[in-house]
Amino acid sequence: MKKIKVSAPGKLMLFGEHAVVYNRPCIVTTVDQRIRVLIELVFGDEIKIDAPEVGVAGYTKKLGLLGQHKNLPKGVQFLETSIKNFFEKYKVKSGLRIETKSEFSSEFGFGSSSAVTVAAFKGLSELFKIKMDNKKLFDLAHKTVLDVQGVGSGFDLAAAIWGGTVFFVTGGKKVIPLKVKKLPLVVGYTGIKADTPTMVKKVAILRENNKKLVDSIFDQISLLTNKAKTLLLRGNFKKTGELMNLNQELLDALGVNTKELSNLIIAARETGAWGAKLSGAGGGDCMIAFIKEEKRKAVESAIQKAGGRVIKVRPNAEGVKIE
Ligand code: PMV
Repeated sequence: MKKIKVSAPGKLMLFGEHAVVYNRPCIVTTVDQRIRVLIELVFGDEIKIDAPEVGVAGYTKKLGLLGQHKNLPKGVQFLETSIKNFFEKYKVKSGLRIETKSEFSSEFGFGSSSAVTVAAFKGLSELFKIKMDNKKLFDLAHKTVLDVQGVGSGFDLAAAIWGGTVFFVTGGKKVIPLKVKKLPLVVGYTGIKADTPTMVKKVAILRENNKKLVDSIFDQISLLTNKAKTLLLRGNFKKTGELMNLNQELLDALGVNTKELSNLIIAARETGAWGAKLSGAGGGDCMIAFIKEEKRKAVESAIQKAGGRVIKVRPNAEGVKIE
């Protein structure tokens, strides 16, 4: 029967994490490591999923029971809820066989769940010949993420859909692709897996207890994100680095920094990076630095010496596509 292969890129947050949950902007870029999803229409009344990177082999679910999760790995929850939402929205259904393959570990915080969700909708819309523009794809994918994890600005979905570097406001209120030149990026992984909903909740509690203060931190993050947009478009990476440092201090104030992230960030700054910050929810995952190319080797080995693992990625990758 009919089958299709789709891929979507991973992402890295450059500016504005957490503030973007509260109606402020962020800037995100995609990376050249992708998730590939194969979807095949099959006879029968069940879906079958193999997702080795999240430890899923031969998982099946009857079509009538889609969306009922009981301690399922995240990868399956997102896929299954995507299928359920697609079938409900477009009043179609079919048995399916799905295989996912990832070029990056789901531990990095590169957004494997959002990339899988986006790829699933793209593939299903092709298989069922239903026209979905980027905005429609985004809205249904965002609903799916909210169904599964209750929180999420949707920035990672926008990155996976549009690709490249994107200026984004909460819930897709603004999605502005930025024509930026090659970003001089170094990525260091702490080795610690962060849980985004937990970190978002942590900030929500801090805000409940200190609303004005925390909102003013979000306002400052918003200011620097807007400024970073202008500087990135001009290719002024040195000054963008300065803003990364400022963003990092504000994230620290929000309580999402860790000793391990700090160690890598300081190591990068001390070896001459223009700026460095955590990327994403904090509590672990990755840090990023902007560097002068001549300093790349030195910054990378300083990150490794400080206990990090350098992840080689090329930013500004293409958005979701049929393979
Ligand atoms: O941990 P990540 O890479 O999924 O990034 C989370 C970014 C937040 O702003 C904290 C949450 C969100 O949905 O925007």
